[in-house]
Amino acid sequence: MATIIDGKEISKQIKDELREKVSNLKQKGIEVTLCVIQVGDDPASTIYVRNKQKACEYIGIKSQSYKLPESTTEAELLEIVEELNQSENVNGILVQMPLPKHINEDKIIEAISPDKDVDGFHPQSVGRLSIGQRGFISCTPAGVIELLKRYNIPIEGKECVVIGRSNIVGKPMAMLMLRENATVTVCHSRTKDLAKISSRADILIVAIGKAEFVTREFVKEGAVVIDVGIHRNENNKLCGDVDFDNVVDKVSAITPVPGGVGPMTIAMLMYNCVESAMSK
Ligand code: GUN
Repeated sequence: MATIIDGKEISKQIKDELREKVSNLKQKGIEVTLCVIQVGDDPASTIYVRNKQKACEYIGIKSQSYKLPESTTEAELLEIVEELNQSENVNGILVQMPLPKHINEDKIIEAISPDKDVDGFHPQSVGRLSIGQRGFISCTPAGVIELLKRYNIPIEGKECVVIGRSNIVGKPMAMLMLRENATVTVCHSRTKDLAKISSRADILIVAIGKAEFVTREFVKEGAVVIDVGIHRNENNKLCGDVDFDNVVDKVSAITPVPGGVGPMTIAMLMYNCVESAMSK
């Protein structure tokens, strides 16, 4: 029987640990503040932002929100980011993506001070991760590592295959698994014979962005499967990049969708905010 990795439960544990830490910091007169900026009113972004605010509230992190109109210019947004970079009271800055087309996302990410880059998207954060220096780590891949560790799933020496090479998940995921001494292969849309390569994996991490793409021929018997995707299938049901029902009897452990990797992203964002306040 496969272990169903409960991301909801682990994220709750992490949030409870952080709540305790934040309360201790408050007693020392240190307040943790996250600033979230949303430009426009993309409905998915509105839900994400609300969930981040709720998590802050639960933990005791002060959340400061900016909801800016779609017409906000790049210069205006840069000015706000710069103000927040300078503000003594702000520990973390998060600009919700995607941004309207007239704003260059890379430029905004680079404008955020690496000391407040709780998303871990700044080139300096990414570079630090690559060369093993301390820095903020992108929240979703950090959450995956946390799930593996808290379920006592060994990583060192294991064959790990990451499907997907995005800057936010696939690439930092590969770097983190390498840092944990796994042997890492990164696959993507141009990979030839993907199923052959992915079925080598002791730990298969799927972040390809295609609903129920991974079926049992992609998976080795007894593998650990981590599903980073989230979609709605033709029955309007939430599903991942992995066809869960098709692979579940072949694996030793698997993350469900919903309730697997998803809740970990916000937990790790909260973790980064607390770290930022503590390292000031
Ligand atoms: N949009 C979707 N996910 C994220 C995230 O983790 N951070 C930011 N800034 N924007 C997002």
